[in-house]
Formats: sequence, C-alpha cells, structure tokens
Amino acid sequence: MEKRTKLYEGKAKILYETDDPNLLIQYFKDAATAFNALKKGTIVNKGILNNQISSFIFQLLEREGVKTHYVQTLNEREMLVKRLKIFPLEVVVRNILAGSLAKKFNLEEGRTLPFPILEFYYKDDSLGDPLIIEDHIRAFGWAAPQELEQIKQMTLKVNQILSAFLLAKGILLVDFKLEFGAHQGEILLGDEFTPDGSRLWDAQTGEKMDKDRFRRDLGKVEEAYQEVCRRITG
Ligand code: TMP
Ligand code: ASP
Repeated sequence: MEKRTKLYEGKAKILYETDDPNLLIQYFKDAATAFNALKKGTIVNKGILNNQISSFIFQLLEREGVKTHYVQTLNEREMLVKRLKIFPLEVVVRNILAGSLAKKFNLEEGRTLPFPILEFYYKDDSLGDPLIIEDHIRAFGWAAPQELEQIKQMTLKVNQILSAFLLAKGILLVDFKLEFGAHQGEILLGDEFTPDGSRLWDAQTGEKMDKDRFRRDLGKVEEAYQEVCRRITG
C-alpha cells in the first residue's frame, strides 16, 4: 500500500491518500487538545496506544457484526481504512452522568442514567461543535431519515458490545463519541474509539482512565492510556 498526499490533518490524526482511491491511511498523533483546542499538549506515545486500542476495538466490533471503516493495522501509528463520506455529526452516548451534561445542570458526576442518552453535535470546529436535535439533521440534510435511524441503531449496538466488553476488563464505559460515514452505499463506523473520545472509569475505584486526566490536569495521563491499552488488548 503506497502512501500518497496528505488529505486532511485534524487535532489528533492525519489522513493520507493511498494508491487505492477507496482506501486511506489514518495516522495517530501524540498531540492532545481540549476545549476546542484552547488547551494544547502532548501525551507521549498516545498515537501508538490509540492505534492499538482503536484497532482492537474495531476488530471486536466487526466480529460482532458492526461494519466499520477498519481494514488493517499497518504499523505502530497507522491503520488502513475505507474512505468515507463522513456525516457531519458527532454522536455521543452517555451511560453515566459526567462531563458537559453534568455541568449543564450543575449536577455531580457519577450517577447511572436510567437509559443510554443519545446526543448529536454538528461537527464544525469554528462553531464549537454545537449540540443539535434530530430535526436539525433532517432539515439541513446532514443525514437522511433512514440514515439517521441506522446511525442510532448502530450506536446503541456499539454501546451494548463495548459496555459489556469493557466491564469484563474492569472498566466502566461512562460516555463516548462516534462518527459515521458512507462507503459504497453502506454506513460504516469511522474515526476511532480511544480514551481521547470516551470516558473510561476504573470499575473498582472510579479512577478516570481517559482524556479527562489531561483536560483537568489530574496527572498520570500516559499511565492511564497505557493501562487502558493493557486491559483492552490483554
Ligand atoms: P462531553 O461531556 O464533553 O460532552 O463529552 C462527551 C463524550 O464525547 C466524552 O466521552 C468525550 C467525547 N467528546 C469527543 O470525543 N469530542 C468532543 O469534541 C467532545 C466535546 C466530546
Ligand atoms: N473536543 C475535544 C475534547 O475536548 C478536543 C478539542 O476540543 O480540542 O475532547
């Protein structure tokens, strides 16, 4: 697989074209940002750990019948993925109250929600990824009604699979963000599943094992990512 020109550079990943127009190389960086890039830093070896974690999780999801963009892990920091026409949506699932939802209603983090809450954000950094409702998605054509239905079903299935898998590894899946795209007429899960885009708490101690350690200056950031990788892949 020949790596060609850089297609897109995001805050934590780079996408490269390949000699196959249907395939891209996704490169994981160590760079870390928070609060829409107001806070910037580096988490040493994050790219290597995130590539391993995401590769493992996407293979697991594929085995469980969830279609993803994942094709193959190429090396420490790169995976081969199918080229997607990405829906401009960030799909967030919340199982336990935390983060922006706790803040919005001035509630303490940690209560288990009565059902998984699904939220949509419009993917646009210049707008700060605003929270949107399903009617906005339909009205502005960001996804067709049947596409949105499928995205919701796939998201809930991912939540079921990963909640159970992670719990068996001693990790609570508090919340996470997914992105989807279309590839040759199919909707596939895209982007990544990593501690950058999820909240993962130790099931015994409640200790945070995700990017909140960086966002909130809790220390031991690298160690947390390493431990997540060890538990997931071990
Ligand atoms: P939030 O509580 O800040 O809204 O975040 C909910 C989840 O979504 C959390 O696991 C982190 C993830 N997330 C991203 O991956 N990217 C983002 O831009 C935001 C705001 C959240
Ligand atoms: N939104 C991401 C986060 O806080 C990164 C960023 O906003 O720069 O997790």
